Amino acid sequence: ANGSALAGKKVVITAGPTREAIDPVRYLSNFSSGKMGYAVAAAAQAAGATVTLVSGPVQLTTPPGVARVDVDSAEQMLQAVTRLLDEGCDIFIGCAAVADYRMAQIADNKMKKTDADELTLTLVKNPDIIAYVGQHPKRPFTVGFAAETQDLAAYAQDKLTRKNLNMIAANDVSIDGQGFNSDNNALTVYWQNGQQSLPLATKSDIATALIALIADHHNQ
Ligand code: C5P
Repeated sequence: ANGSALAGKKVVITAGPTREAIDPVRYLSNFSSGKMGYAVAAAAQAAGATVTLVSGPVQLTTPPGVARVDVDSAEQMLQAVTRLLDEGCDIFIGCAAVADYRMAQIADNKMKKTDADELTLTLVKNPDIIAYVGQHPKRPFTVGFAAETQDLAAYAQDKLTRKNLNMIAANDVSIDGQGFNSDNNALTVYWQNGQQSLPLATKSDIATALIALIADHHNQ
C-alpha cells in the first residue's frame, strides 16, 4: 500500500490472545503472540489510516502513531470494540485469538487443591467479536483471520459467509516456521468472488500486502 491508500480511514484491529480468569491467580489462554495484528496495525498506519489496536496481553511495543486499548478477556475486548464502532470505524480487522470459552463462574478465592484426582471446570461460550461486528448496524468493512490445520479454503470460505465478512486471511498453522509466534507468515486471502495468496514472508511484508488488498477492495 502506498502512504495514502487508507488516508482518512479509521481502522480498528484486535490482536493477541484473550485471558479468561479461573480464579484470582489463574487463567485460560492460548499461545498467540500478537505479532500479526501488531504488524497489520503498523502497515495500516503507514498507509495513512488512523489506527486503534485493541490488544490482549502481549509482550510487544505499540507501533508508533497507533492508539492502543489494552484488554484481558473476550468480554472486555467486545466492550472496547463496541465503543470504537459507536465512535465510527471504516475498517475492522480481527487478528485476535479470542478464547472460545470462559469460566461459567470465576472463583472469588484461589481454588484449593483437594484429594480428588480430577477437577472439572465448567466453561461457557464467549461472544464471537467479529461476528458481532459483521452484524452491527454501523458495520465497517470487516476482515477476519482463520488459522487452520486442514481444508484451509473450505473452512475459510465458510467463516467468510457465516460471520458476514468482506475478506478472510487464512493461514495454515500446521506448517513449521509460519503463523503462531513466528516472525514469518504466509496467507491466502479470500473474498466473495476471488482469492489471492501472499507467499511466505516476514509478518511485516505480509501485513503490508494485506493492507494493500484491503485498500483496493474497500475503495471499490
Ligand atoms: O472461528 P474462528 O475463531 O476460527 O475465527 C477466527 C476469526 O474470528 C478471527 O478473525 C478472530 O479474530 C475472530 N474471532 C472473534 N471472536 C471470537 C472468536 C474468533 O472475533 N470469539
